[in-house]
Amino acid sequence: MRMRRKKNLNDRLKRVSSLIVENPTEKKGSWAEHLGSKPIHLEIGCGKGKFICDMAEANPDIFYIAMEKVANVLVAAVEMAFENNLSNVLFIRGDAALLSEYFAQGEVSRLYLNFSDPWPANRHRNRRLTSKGFLKMYSDILSQDAMLCLKTDNRPFFDFSVAELKSCSWEVKNITFNLHGLLSPDEQVNSQPQSEHSIEGADNGACTPRYNPIGGAVTEYEEKFSSKGVPICRLEAHPPSN
Ligand SMILES: C[S@@+](CC[C@H](N)C(=O)[O-])C[C@H]1O[C@@H](n2cnc3c(N)ncnc32)[C@H](O)[C@@H]1O
Repeated sequence: MRMRRKKNLNDRLKRVSSLIVENPTEKKGSWAEHLGSKPIHLEIGCGKGKFICDMAEANPDIFYIAMEKVANVLVAAVEMAFENNLSNVLFIRGDAALLSEYFAQGEVSRLYLNFSDPWPANRHRNRRLTSKGFLKMYSDILSQDAMLCLKTDNRPFFDFSVAELKSCSWEVKNITFNLHGLLSPDEQVNSQPQSEHSIEGADNGACTPRYNPIGGAVTEYEEKFSSKGVPICRLEAHPPSN
């Protein structure tokens, strides 16, 4: 089903356009010149932006770039960063399939895949963001010692991702099948970041902590699923050395 175009989408995008990179291809190879010497952490499929905004606020020494292909969704993320005056986050409206046109070799030092669409049908496996074609692109843009961090509620997608990463010679580590079960509720609550962003229409899951010392900021989907008791899988992976 196609998403209905949100009312005033263009006006909303225009208001926050200072945080949207219009021509990311022009920045390829020169992101550091534009952003200073901070390491770049990239999230693909940022949704409504809670993860990237909370991470940016908690880690001022990192520069965050969030990519989202659906404008209706992206606009909520950019508005959140804008309303919170975040100066270390930018957004790309685009498809991960074009990543290698946006970033040169080694420009990104961390990649986040949070609750990526699982594309369950086998005929769609190449669309999964952890399929071989995407992994090759990631290893091209990631720096040495860079890390990919993945969280999902979808066990078949998680198992596929582990298998695909290993078959492409990534070093997979710190696998958990129950991220929020690793720490006591007290430990999780005590590690919440100082501020709380709010977004229209977000499900703020009453009993899920907003931050996890291992998994970082809790995403919209993570909040939704873990508040229903669905275990969250997480892994870290290092790309093969070239
Ligand atoms: C299931 S949602 C998860 C959103 C968010 N990361 C979270 O955890 O709450 C997946 C998001 O990824 C975006 N997405 C899927 N494939 C993408 C691609 N190839 N490039 C950029 N964004 C993509 C979708 O539009 C959607 O907003």
